[in-house]
Amino acid sequence: MNDTVDSDTRPSSHGEHVSTDDDAQLPVKPYRLDTTVAHPARRYNYWIGGKDHFAADRESGEAILAAFPAARAAALENRAFLRRAVTYLTAEAGVRQFLDIGTGIPAPDNTHEVAQAIAPESRVVYVDNDPIVLTHARALLSSSPQGATAYLEEDLHDFPKILEHPEVTGTLDLTQPVALLLVAVLHFVHDEDDPYEMVAGLLDGLPVGSYLAVSHATTDHTPPRVQAKVRAAIKHGKMYPRTRGGITRFFDGLTLVEPGVVSVADWRPDGEPEQRLSPLDASAWAAIGRLNPRTD
Ligand SMILES: C[S@@+](CC[C@H](N)C(=O)[O-])C[C@H]1O[C@@H](n2cnc3c(N)ncnc32)[C@H](O)[C@@H]1O
Repeated sequence: MNDTVDSDTRPSSHGEHVSTDDDAQLPVKPYRLDTTVAHPARRYNYWIGGKDHFAADRESGEAILAAFPAARAAALENRAFLRRAVTYLTAEAGVRQFLDIGTGIPAPDNTHEVAQAIAPESRVVYVDNDPIVLTHARALLSSSPQGATAYLEEDLHDFPKILEHPEVTGTLDLTQPVALLLVAVLHFVHDEDDPYEMVAGLLDGLPVGSYLAVSHATTDHTPPRVQAKVRAAIKHGKMYPRTRGGITRFFDGLTLVEPGVVSVADWRPDGEPEQRLSPLDASAWAAIGRLNPRTD
């Protein structure tokens, strides 16, 4: 990929896009990306073997790998959790609607692909704040005819706008259960910006029977010396790892699905134990919870 790029996608005038039978009719808006600084979406894409990254992303990815060699395997493990989580939510919990915030650049096993392989009528709204994800949104919009997908460029910090946005209200029926996916995104939100309020605010807009799925970086198992090296390596796209307790707090008022809050590699794994990353190398907690009737 070149290091400067203009998008070839067709975002609508307000920056989001719903799949239609006639993509060629959509207006083309050139979209300038800043490729000179590393972005989390592109660095993650580099680690998981994608092609949508630039020199700054690769340099940043390599610097972090030098400090923490398991970072690439951890990213792949996280992606595998996303697949298992969506499989569980669709096949076992019976969810047919997904709000996937912090989508990332399209990669194998995008949420709608996993869900629609099980239930073709599944409906998915993708949300990310990185313009590069928008430039690849077309790959997220390849819905089955029975279902629907939509893409919205928005920031988790502006969560009230997300729930009210016509792409969300027009694609999802918010009176029916929705799975809110916050997979490897909450660790980009600083405590000062109150990620707990963001999650609670989003869940407030969803009905009883909805689900929350989270994976989240942690340094609970990481020696302080390694933490310091990783911190020094991350110059852009800073991350705020949280403890198991801090991550469990996102599920206040929800009923945790078995096996609760566990290392991302150990959440309903489908591989042999010896193939899974250790909690230190996976360096993330994961859980799914179900929204109960409100008691207040
Ligand atoms: C590590 S990727 C995770 C992608 C995908 N959820 C997965 O687990 O495979 C994190 C994504 O979150 C997005 N992101 C980071 N901060 C965000 C924010 N405040 N609002 C929306 N998206 C955000 C990044 O642009 C990136 O695409």
